[in-house]
Order: sequence, then structure tokens, then C-alpha cells
Amino acid sequence: MSLDELFERFAAQSRIFKDRDKLLPDYVPSELPHRDNQVLQLAKILAPALAGSRPSNVFIYGLTGTGKTAVTKYVLRKLSEKAQDRVIFSYVNCRQNDTSYRVLAELARSLGTRIPFTGLATSEVYKRFLSALDRRGRIMVVVLDEVDHLVKKSGDDVLYFLTRINEQLTSSRLSLIGITNDLKFTEFLDARVKSSLCEEELVFPPYTARELEDILRQRASEAFYEGVLAPEVIPMCAAIAAKQNGDARLALDLLLKAADIAEREGAERVTADHVRQAQKEIEKNVTVDVIKSMPLHVKLVLLSVYLLEKEGAKNLTTGTIYNKYVEIAKMLGVDPVTQRRVSDIINELDMAGIVNARVVSLGRYGRTKVIRLSTSLKNIEEGLSEDLFMLGAIELTTR
Ligand SMILES: Nc1ncnc2c1ncn2[C@@H]1O[C@H](COP(=O)(O)OP(=O)(O)OP(=O)(O)O)[C@@H](O)[C@H]1O
Ligand SMILES: [Mg+2]
Repeated sequence: MSLDELFERFAAQSRIFKDRDKLLPDYVPSELPHRDNQVLQLAKILAPALAGSRPSNVFIYGLTGTGKTAVTKYVLRKLSEKAQDRVIFSYVNCRQNDTSYRVLAELARSLGTRIPFTGLATSEVYKRFLSALDRRGRIMVVVLDEVDHLVKKSGDDVLYFLTRINEQLTSSRLSLIGITNDLKFTEFLDARVKSSLCEEELVFPPYTARELEDILRQRASEAFYEGVLAPEVIPMCAAIAAKQNGDARLALDLLLKAADIAEREGAERVTADHVRQAQKEIEKNVTVDVIKSMPLHVKLVLLSVYLLEKEGAKNLTTGTIYNKYVEIAKMLGVDPVTQRRVSDIINELDMAGIVNARVVSLGRYGRTKVIRLSTSLKNIEEGLSEDLFMLGAIELTTR
């Protein structure tokens, strides 16, 4: 298909999508099936803000794609409609804003105080935020979404400030909502921060396949023309996502990708086969992304396995891989890590599903571990070759 044809097909009225945007991850739907409980609980916790008293801080956790962000935004939107300007709401994504400075600057900005992107001391930003807030004489509800990213990158200073800020405010009050999908996150927190952040706790359980079906049906009714989905499409997307910890984002992503593929093909309906293609595409992207984000020595170990397999080596052992790894590391002028560490790295790669390590018995010679790639060479190439250093390594070693 030429580019012109492709663009024309998209520009022409879609036969499949009524409104594709309704399937995008940022869209907050007007209904959230199977989250009535969480919506109600969060609303109850925050409602006192309407009467001018400070709501308890809330800590929200649950696995990825369980609706934490969607529910929080939904409740905040409803509440701010009711509150008009009596309550100040501020939502900060801490994956994008992962330093104390940036979080405080975002909060100050939501009060209309301008803060330069860099240049001030963090304590100065804090002071400006504090005085801006107190001048407003309001309740402020602050959401720190994906807060684990902030704490891992910059520690819990901001949380400490924000959980104690009420002691320094005279005419305003602040409540904090912390959201995370990292269940071990609270272990990183100072005990005092932890107890004040967790005044209330909300847990989001994973969705079951049935629940995901309802979620998909509701979104599909807004996004697609009637009758364009073959009957098995939604149950399939739901079943696949239910196996992946009940992740609604994955379910929606599958549905969107499947429909995109159907549209690209010029098909009239989305079918099971489109879902299967979408699944493959997503799996591939996940592996490539995982590889891209790996630290140097993990990449080098993976590169060693990759090169050995490309040379046709069979039954790879930790020892063989280690020798190759040392050879590559030396060639690149990098200090190699120990064989013990390489053995751990191989286990990590096994856990991530990128290699497969199997213990086989050698009879009276004991047992050994046999390692092979469980991802295509192409995926590995794609993941590694984003990294210029690795690209150089591949060049050098395959010359
Ligand atoms: N009950 C629901 N009804 C409709 N859509 C939902 C529901 N729950 C989640 N979604 C949708 O699924 C996607 C993922 O949900 P959300 O972003 O809220 O997950 P999350 O729990 O915040 O995940 P993460 O921990 O990865 O941030 C979003 O597009 C959201 O709109
Ligand atoms: Mg989220």
C-alpha cells in the first residue's frame, strides 16, 4: 500500500470507528463499570471538602490497569463540578514529574504562581507554594499519581513536607491522595510519612474476564459503529487481559489495535484474527521495550547469548555465555562483572521471559543449566540496536 493510499483510507470516513478517541488510555468514560464501590468510597472520603473541612489523606493501590487513575479523575471531576471554586484540585503525574522541585512547581503552578523550570532552591519553591496556598484560604486536594516513581528517584522529602504542611498553614488546608501500583512501595517510606499518607486506604482488585467484558462493551459502544465487532472479539480481548493480572489498559489496547489492523486492511468487521495479530504486535513491543530499558551488563549478557545462537551454538551453559560476555566486555573496554553475577542476570532474563533456562541432568556428571533465547533474534536486535553502544558491539563482534 502506498502512503497516499494509506492516508486516504484513514481520511475517508471510517466504517469501523464512530469515535476512536474513546478507546485511548487518557479518556475517562462517563461510567466505570465494576468500580462503584471505589468511586463511592473515594467520594465519601473527599466529600467533607465541600463543607470546608479537610478530607483525610488517602493511599490508593492496586495492580496496573485496575482503574486507579480513571476512578480518581472521575471522582475529582464530579467533585469539582459541585465545589465550583471552593476547593482547589491538583493532579500531578509523578512519572513525568519525578523530583521534589518539579512536583512542588506543578502544585504552585496550579495556584497560579509561576515557578521557573530550574534555578530556585527546592526550599524556595516550597515556601512560594506554601504562601500562595495560604493566601487562597481554601482546601486543596493534591493527587500524586504513580508516586512510587517520585520516591524512588528523589526520596520522600516532598511527601514529608506535604503531610506536615497543615501545621504551617493558617487559613488553608491540604489533603493528599497517593496512588501506586507498586505494592511494596510503602516500605520505602519514613514511618511518619507512611502513617499520615495512609489515613485511609483504598485497594483496587484486578478485574476478572467477565468484568473486563463489561468495561470493553461500554467503551466499544461509544467508539464503534454497531455490528462491526465479531461476537468473539470482546470476550477474547477480555480473556487475554484477565490472564495478565486483569489489566483493563491491555484489554482496551488489544481492542484498539485489532480495530486499527482491520481498518488498515479495509475490512468491514473486526474479527478474532485481528485480535490475534494485535496480541502479537503488543507482545513484540513489550519485549523490545523491556530490552531497551535494561542496564548495560544485562544487555551485554543478552548480546552474548544472541551472538552465540547466531553462530549456531546449541546447549549454551552459563560458562559458555560468561566466556563470550568477557570477550565482548574486554573488546568494548568495559570491566566485566563476575560469573556469579552473570548467572543472576541469566535468571533475571529468564524471569522476564527473554531467555529460557532449563536445568538438565547429565547423569553421573551432575546437573547443568541449558540456556536458549525465547524471543526471536529480530526482537532482540531491535531492542538492542536502539543503544548506539550495543550497535557498536554488534558491529565489532560480527565483523
Ligand atoms: N471500570 C472501568 N470502566 C471503564 N474503563 C476503565 C475501567 N477501569 C479502567 N478503565 C480504563 O482502563 C485503562 C487503565 O485504567 P487506569 O489508567 O485507571 O489504570 P491504573 O490503575 O491507573 O493503572 P496504572 O497503575 O498502570 O497507572 C484506562 O484507559 C481506563 O479508562
Ligand atoms: Mg494510573
